[in-house]
Amino acid sequence: MPDTSPPPAPPAPPAPPLTDALRARRLLASHLPPTPMWSYSALNATTGSVVFVKHENAQPTGAFKVRGGLTLLASMTPAERARGVAGYSTGNHAQSLAYAAAHFEAPCAIVMPKDPNPAKASAVRALGAELIEHGADLDEARAHAADLAAERGMRLVSAGDEPELIAGVATAYLEVFEREPDLDAVIVPVGGGSGAAAACLVAASVAPRCRVIAAQSAASPAAHDSWRSGRLLTRPNRTRVEGLATGCGFGLPQRMIRDRLADFVLLDDEAIAAAQWLMMRDAHTLAEGAGATALAALLADPARFAGRRVAIVCSGANASERELRRCTA
Ligand SMILES: Cc1ncc(COP(=O)(O)O)c(C=O)c1O
Repeated sequence: MPDTSPPPAPPAPPAPPLTDALRARRLLASHLPPTPMWSYSALNATTGSVVFVKHENAQPTGAFKVRGGLTLLASMTPAERARGVAGYSTGNHAQSLAYAAAHFEAPCAIVMPKDPNPAKASAVRALGAELIEHGADLDEARAHAADLAAERGMRLVSAGDEPELIAGVATAYLEVFEREPDLDAVIVPVGGGSGAAAACLVAASVAPRCRVIAAQSAASPAAHDSWRSGRLLTRPNRTRVEGLATGCGFGLPQRMIRDRLADFVLLDDEAIAAAQWLMMRDAHTLAEGAGATALAALLADPARFAGRRVAIVCSGANASERELRRCTA
Protein backbone atom coordinates (compact mmCIF):
# COMPACT_ATOMS: atom_id res chain seq x y z
CA MET A 1 0.00 0.00 0.00
CA PRO A 2 1.33 3.45 -0.80
CA ASP A 3 2.07 5.73 2.13
CA THR A 4 -0.68 8.33 2.12
CA SER A 5 0.36 10.30 5.19
CA PRO A 6 0.80 14.04 4.54
CA PRO A 7 4.40 15.30 4.35
CA PRO A 8 5.66 17.16 7.44
CA ALA A 9 5.52 20.55 5.72
CA PRO A 10 4.64 23.87 7.37
CA PRO A 11 1.39 25.49 6.17
CA ALA A 12 1.77 26.71 2.60
CA PRO A 13 2.16 30.47 2.04
CA PRO A 14 -0.49 32.49 0.17
CA ALA A 15 -0.69 32.38 -3.63
CA PRO A 16 0.96 35.24 -5.50
CA PRO A 17 -1.44 37.58 -7.33
CA LEU A 18 -0.99 38.24 -11.05
CA THR A 19 0.54 41.62 -10.23
CA ASP A 20 3.51 39.77 -8.69
CA ALA A 21 4.07 38.08 -12.05
CA LEU A 22 3.93 41.47 -13.79
CA ARG A 23 6.43 42.84 -11.29
CA ALA A 24 8.64 39.80 -11.86
CA ARG A 25 8.48 40.43 -15.57
CA ARG A 26 9.76 43.96 -15.11
CA LEU A 27 12.56 42.67 -12.90
CA LEU A 28 13.55 39.85 -15.25
CA ALA A 29 13.54 42.09 -18.33
CA SER A 30 17.08 43.23 -17.53
CA HIS A 31 18.32 39.66 -16.87
CA LEU A 32 16.63 37.27 -19.29
CA PRO A 33 15.29 37.97 -22.77
CA PRO A 34 11.90 36.35 -23.54
CA THR A 35 12.36 32.81 -24.81
CA PRO A 36 11.15 31.94 -28.31
CA MET A 37 7.98 30.01 -29.05
CA TRP A 38 8.00 28.28 -32.43
CA SER A 39 5.71 26.07 -34.45
CA TYR A 40 7.31 23.32 -36.57
CA SER A 41 5.54 21.87 -39.59
CA ALA A 42 7.07 18.43 -38.99
CA LEU A 43 5.80 18.39 -35.42
CA ASN A 44 2.38 19.59 -36.52
CA ALA A 45 2.26 16.75 -39.05
CA THR A 46 3.32 14.18 -36.45
CA THR A 47 0.78 15.31 -33.87
CA GLY A 48 -2.14 16.48 -36.04
CA SER A 49 -2.31 19.69 -33.96
CA VAL A 50 -0.98 23.20 -34.32
CA VAL A 51 1.79 22.95 -31.78
CA PHE A 52 3.76 25.82 -30.30
CA VAL A 53 6.93 24.86 -28.49
CA LYS A 54 7.77 27.31 -25.71
CA HIS A 55 11.55 27.12 -25.63
CA GLU A 56 12.51 27.35 -21.98
CA ASN A 57 15.42 25.12 -22.96
CA ALA A 58 16.90 28.38 -24.34
CA GLN A 59 17.42 29.88 -20.88
CA PRO A 60 21.03 30.49 -19.78
CA THR A 61 20.71 27.64 -17.26
CA GLY A 62 18.89 25.43 -19.78
CA ALA A 63 15.57 25.46 -17.87
CA PHE A 64 12.62 27.65 -16.90
CA LYS A 65 13.41 27.55 -13.20
CA VAL A 66 15.90 30.43 -13.46
CA ARG A 67 12.97 32.84 -13.75
CA GLY A 68 11.93 31.88 -10.24
CA GLY A 69 15.40 31.90 -8.71
CA LEU A 70 16.15 35.43 -9.83
CA THR A 71 12.72 36.64 -8.68
CA LEU A 72 13.15 35.04 -5.27
CA LEU A 73 16.66 36.36 -4.61
CA ALA A 74 15.59 39.83 -5.74
CA SER A 75 12.79 39.77 -3.14
CA MET A 76 15.18 39.09 -0.22
CA THR A 77 16.70 41.85 1.90
CA PRO A 78 20.47 42.45 1.65
CA ALA A 79 20.85 40.95 5.15
CA GLU A 80 18.95 37.80 4.15
CA ARG A 81 20.99 37.50 0.99
CA ALA A 82 24.22 37.83 2.97
CA ARG A 83 23.18 34.75 5.01
CA GLY A 84 22.48 32.90 1.78
CA VAL A 85 20.09 30.31 0.41
CA ALA A 86 19.94 26.53 0.69
CA GLY A 87 18.03 24.37 -1.75
CA TYR A 88 17.42 20.72 -2.62
CA SER A 89 17.02 19.65 -6.18
CA THR A 90 17.72 17.06 -8.85
CA GLY A 91 19.30 19.88 -10.83
CA ASN A 92 17.36 22.68 -12.48
CA HIS A 93 16.01 24.34 -9.34
CA ALA A 94 19.60 24.07 -8.07
CA GLN A 95 21.03 25.76 -11.13
CA SER A 96 18.38 28.45 -10.85
CA LEU A 97 19.31 29.22 -7.23
CA ALA A 98 23.03 29.01 -7.96
CA TYR A 99 22.67 31.34 -10.93
CA ALA A 100 20.64 33.88 -8.98
CA ALA A 101 22.91 33.63 -5.92
CA ALA A 102 25.95 34.27 -8.13
CA HIS A 103 24.21 37.29 -9.61
CA PHE A 104 23.33 38.71 -6.19
CA GLU A 105 26.64 37.57 -4.62
CA ALA A 106 24.84 35.45 -2.01
CA PRO A 107 26.18 32.18 -0.56
CA CYS A 108 24.33 29.15 -1.90
CA ALA A 109 24.31 25.54 -0.72
CA ILE A 110 22.57 22.86 -2.72
CA VAL A 111 21.74 19.33 -1.63
CA MET A 112 21.26 16.87 -4.47
CA PRO A 113 20.34 13.21 -4.08
CA LYS A 114 23.43 10.95 -4.48
CA ASP A 115 24.69 10.31 -8.04
CA PRO A 116 23.18 13.41 -9.60
CA ASN A 117 23.16 14.13 -13.33
CA PRO A 118 26.85 15.01 -13.78
CA ALA A 119 26.06 17.83 -16.20
CA LYS A 120 23.69 19.48 -13.71
CA ALA A 121 26.08 18.95 -10.79
CA SER A 122 29.04 20.50 -12.58
CA ALA A 123 26.90 23.42 -13.77
CA VAL A 124 25.92 24.14 -10.15
CA ARG A 125 29.57 24.03 -9.05
CA ALA A 126 30.64 26.19 -11.97
CA LEU A 127 28.15 28.81 -10.81
CA GLY A 128 30.00 28.91 -7.48
CA ALA A 129 27.48 27.13 -5.26
CA GLU A 130 28.42 24.52 -2.67
CA LEU A 131 27.09 21.14 -3.74
CA ILE A 132 26.37 18.41 -1.21
CA GLU A 133 25.31 14.98 -2.39
CA HIS A 134 23.05 13.42 0.19
CA GLY A 135 20.20 10.91 0.29
CA ALA A 136 18.66 8.42 -2.09
CA ASP A 137 15.98 10.76 -3.39
CA LEU A 138 14.71 14.32 -3.29
CA ASP A 139 12.81 13.80 -0.06
CA GLU A 140 15.98 12.76 1.79
CA ALA A 141 17.87 15.64 0.17
CA ARG A 142 15.15 18.00 1.37
CA ALA A 143 15.51 16.90 5.00
CA HIS A 144 19.26 17.40 4.84
CA ALA A 145 18.92 20.85 3.24
CA ALA A 146 16.51 21.86 6.02
CA ASP A 147 19.08 20.86 8.71
CA LEU A 148 21.84 22.69 6.87
CA ALA A 149 19.79 25.86 6.47
CA ALA A 150 18.89 25.85 10.18
CA GLU A 151 22.54 25.33 11.16
CA ARG A 152 23.88 28.12 8.95
CA GLY A 153 21.01 30.60 9.16
CA MET A 154 20.38 30.32 5.43
CA ARG A 155 16.98 30.66 3.83
CA LEU A 156 15.69 27.22 2.88
CA VAL A 157 14.05 27.47 -0.51
CA SER A 158 11.27 24.96 -1.04
CA ALA A 159 10.93 23.38 -4.47
CA GLY A 160 7.21 24.12 -4.51
CA ASP A 161 5.86 26.30 -1.70
CA GLU A 162 7.45 29.61 -2.71
CA PRO A 163 5.22 32.41 -4.05
CA GLU A 164 8.22 34.26 -5.56
CA LEU A 165 9.29 31.20 -7.53
CA ILE A 166 5.79 30.83 -8.94
CA ALA A 167 5.51 34.55 -9.75
CA GLY A 168 8.85 34.36 -11.58
CA VAL A 169 7.88 31.25 -13.52
CA ALA A 170 4.57 32.89 -14.41
CA THR A 171 6.50 35.30 -16.66
CA ALA A 172 6.94 32.40 -19.09
CA TYR A 173 3.16 32.14 -19.42
CA LEU A 174 2.77 35.89 -19.88
CA GLU A 175 5.08 35.43 -22.87
CA VAL A 176 3.13 32.40 -24.12
CA PHE A 177 -0.21 34.21 -24.21
CA GLU A 178 1.26 37.44 -25.50
CA ARG A 179 2.64 35.52 -28.45
CA GLU A 180 -0.46 33.28 -28.98
CA PRO A 181 -3.55 34.68 -27.24
CA ASP A 182 -5.92 32.12 -28.82
CA LEU A 183 -4.57 28.84 -27.57
CA ASP A 184 -6.94 25.95 -26.95
CA ALA A 185 -4.59 24.34 -24.46
CA VAL A 186 -1.22 24.66 -22.79
CA ILE A 187 0.45 21.51 -21.51
CA VAL A 188 2.83 21.84 -18.58
CA PRO A 189 5.20 19.22 -17.13
CA VAL A 190 4.87 18.80 -13.37
CA GLY A 191 7.20 17.79 -10.58
CA GLY A 192 6.35 19.90 -7.54
CA GLY A 193 3.88 21.97 -9.54
CA SER A 194 5.32 25.50 -9.69
CA GLY A 195 5.04 25.58 -13.49
CA ALA A 196 1.45 24.35 -13.50
CA ALA A 197 0.50 26.82 -10.75
CA ALA A 198 2.11 29.64 -12.74
CA ALA A 199 0.27 28.62 -15.92
CA CYS A 200 -3.03 28.56 -14.02
CA LEU A 201 -2.38 31.96 -12.46
CA VAL A 202 -1.77 33.61 -15.82
CA ALA A 203 -4.34 31.74 -17.90
CA ALA A 204 -7.11 32.50 -15.38
CA SER A 205 -6.66 36.22 -16.03
CA VAL A 206 -5.49 36.57 -19.60
CA ALA A 207 -6.72 33.43 -21.41
CA PRO A 208 -9.62 31.93 -19.44
CA ARG A 209 -10.72 29.86 -22.46
CA CYS A 210 -7.37 28.08 -22.65
CA ARG A 211 -7.27 24.72 -20.92
CA VAL A 212 -4.22 24.20 -18.73
CA ILE A 213 -3.27 20.53 -18.71
CA ALA A 214 -0.61 19.12 -16.39
CA ALA A 215 1.51 16.08 -17.13
CA GLN A 216 3.62 13.97 -14.78
CA SER A 217 5.41 10.64 -14.81
CA ALA A 218 3.24 7.72 -13.70
CA ALA A 219 6.30 6.49 -11.79
CA SER A 220 6.21 9.60 -9.51
CA PRO A 221 2.54 10.58 -9.36
CA ALA A 222 2.41 12.58 -6.09
CA ALA A 223 1.22 15.88 -7.57
CA HIS A 224 -1.26 14.11 -9.82
CA ASP A 225 -2.69 11.99 -7.03
CA SER A 226 -2.82 15.00 -4.69
CA TRP A 227 -4.75 17.00 -7.29
CA ARG A 228 -7.20 14.15 -7.98
CA SER A 229 -7.83 13.49 -4.29
CA GLY A 230 -7.77 17.09 -3.07
CA ARG A 231 -5.27 16.11 -0.34
CA LEU A 232 -1.50 16.39 -0.08
CA LEU A 233 -0.18 12.89 -0.64
CA THR A 234 3.20 11.22 -0.68
CA ARG A 235 3.76 8.62 -3.36
CA PRO A 236 6.50 6.32 -4.60
CA ASN A 237 9.08 8.36 -6.49
CA ARG A 238 10.59 6.08 -9.11
CA THR A 239 10.72 8.04 -12.34
CA ARG A 240 14.07 8.39 -14.05
CA VAL A 241 12.90 11.76 -15.43
CA GLU A 242 14.83 14.01 -13.05
CA GLY A 243 12.74 17.18 -13.21
CA LEU A 244 9.59 15.20 -12.40
CA ALA A 245 11.06 13.15 -9.56
CA THR A 246 9.05 14.37 -6.58
CA GLY A 247 7.53 12.17 -3.91
CA CYS A 248 4.98 14.51 -2.34
CA GLY A 249 2.42 17.13 -3.26
CA PHE A 250 3.17 20.76 -2.30
CA GLY A 251 0.45 22.82 -0.64
CA LEU A 252 0.80 26.09 -2.51
CA PRO A 253 0.86 24.85 -6.10
CA GLN A 254 -1.87 22.32 -5.29
CA ARG A 255 -4.08 25.11 -4.01
CA MET A 256 -3.43 27.16 -7.13
CA ILE A 257 -4.17 24.35 -9.59
CA ARG A 258 -7.08 22.79 -7.71
CA ASP A 259 -9.96 24.53 -9.48
CA ARG A 260 -8.17 25.86 -12.49
CA LEU A 261 -6.47 22.84 -14.05
CA ALA A 262 -8.54 21.25 -16.83
CA ASP A 263 -6.84 17.88 -16.57
CA PHE A 264 -3.81 16.08 -15.22
CA VAL A 265 -2.35 13.18 -17.19
CA LEU A 266 0.20 10.52 -16.30
CA LEU A 267 2.75 9.13 -18.74
CA ASP A 268 5.21 6.32 -18.50
CA ASP A 269 8.92 7.07 -18.75
CA GLU A 270 9.20 5.25 -22.09
CA ALA A 271 6.58 7.54 -23.65
CA ILE A 272 8.54 10.53 -22.35
CA ALA A 273 11.78 9.19 -23.86
CA ALA A 274 9.99 8.66 -27.20
CA ALA A 275 8.81 12.27 -27.10
CA GLN A 276 12.38 13.39 -26.40
CA TRP A 277 13.42 11.73 -29.63
CA LEU A 278 10.55 13.35 -31.58
CA MET A 279 11.48 16.74 -30.15
CA MET A 280 14.92 16.25 -31.69
CA ARG A 281 13.64 14.92 -34.99
CA ASP A 282 10.72 17.28 -35.60
CA ALA A 283 11.64 20.42 -33.64
CA HIS A 284 15.46 20.29 -33.79
CA THR A 285 15.38 20.62 -30.04
CA LEU A 286 17.38 18.89 -27.37
CA ALA A 287 15.06 18.39 -24.41
CA GLU A 288 15.70 16.57 -21.16
CA GLY A 289 12.91 14.13 -20.26
CA ALA A 290 10.91 16.71 -18.31
CA GLY A 291 11.22 19.08 -21.26
CA ALA A 292 9.60 16.53 -23.58
CA THR A 293 6.83 15.51 -21.18
CA ALA A 294 4.27 17.99 -22.53
CA LEU A 295 4.85 16.59 -26.02
CA ALA A 296 4.43 13.07 -24.64
CA ALA A 297 1.04 14.11 -23.22
CA LEU A 298 -0.03 15.45 -26.60
CA LEU A 299 1.09 12.27 -28.36
CA ALA A 300 -0.69 10.11 -25.79
CA ASP A 301 -4.09 11.41 -26.91
CA PRO A 302 -3.82 12.84 -30.43
CA ALA A 303 -7.59 12.72 -31.06
CA ARG A 304 -8.21 15.05 -28.14
CA PHE A 305 -5.92 17.71 -29.58
CA ALA A 306 -6.57 17.15 -33.31
CA GLY A 307 -6.59 20.50 -35.13
CA ARG A 308 -6.25 22.40 -31.84
CA ARG A 309 -3.78 25.14 -31.09
CA VAL A 310 -1.66 23.77 -28.28
CA ALA A 311 1.39 25.21 -26.52
CA ILE A 312 3.78 22.68 -25.03
CA VAL A 313 6.40 23.84 -22.61
CA CYS A 314 9.87 22.53 -23.37
CA SER A 315 10.87 23.24 -19.82
CA GLY A 316 14.50 22.17 -19.93
CA ALA A 317 17.43 20.87 -21.95
CA ASN A 318 19.74 19.49 -19.29
CA ALA A 319 19.78 15.85 -20.29
CA SER A 320 22.64 13.70 -19.04
CA GLU A 321 24.79 11.88 -21.54
CA ARG A 322 23.30 8.56 -20.39
CA GLU A 323 19.78 9.91 -20.96
CA LEU A 324 20.64 11.16 -24.43
CA ARG A 325 22.20 7.87 -25.45
CA ARG A 326 19.13 6.01 -24.21
CA CYS A 327 16.63 8.05 -26.17
CA THR A 328 18.58 7.93 -29.43
CA ALA A 329 19.41 4.21 -29.17
C1 LIG B 1 13.07 20.71 -16.85
C2 LIG B 1 12.00 20.67 -15.82
N1 LIG B 1 10.72 20.57 -16.22
C3 LIG B 1 9.71 20.49 -15.34
C4 LIG B 1 9.94 20.51 -13.99
C5 LIG B 1 8.79 20.42 -13.03
O1 LIG B 1 8.58 21.67 -12.51
P1 LIG B 1 7.74 21.89 -11.16
O2 LIG B 1 8.54 21.25 -10.08
O3 LIG B 1 7.67 23.34 -11.05
O4 LIG B 1 6.45 21.21 -11.35
C6 LIG B 1 11.26 20.62 -13.52
C7 LIG B 1 11.55 20.66 -12.09
O5 LIG B 1 12.66 20.74 -11.66
C8 LIG B 1 12.31 20.70 -14.45
O6 LIG B 1 13.59 20.79 -14.07
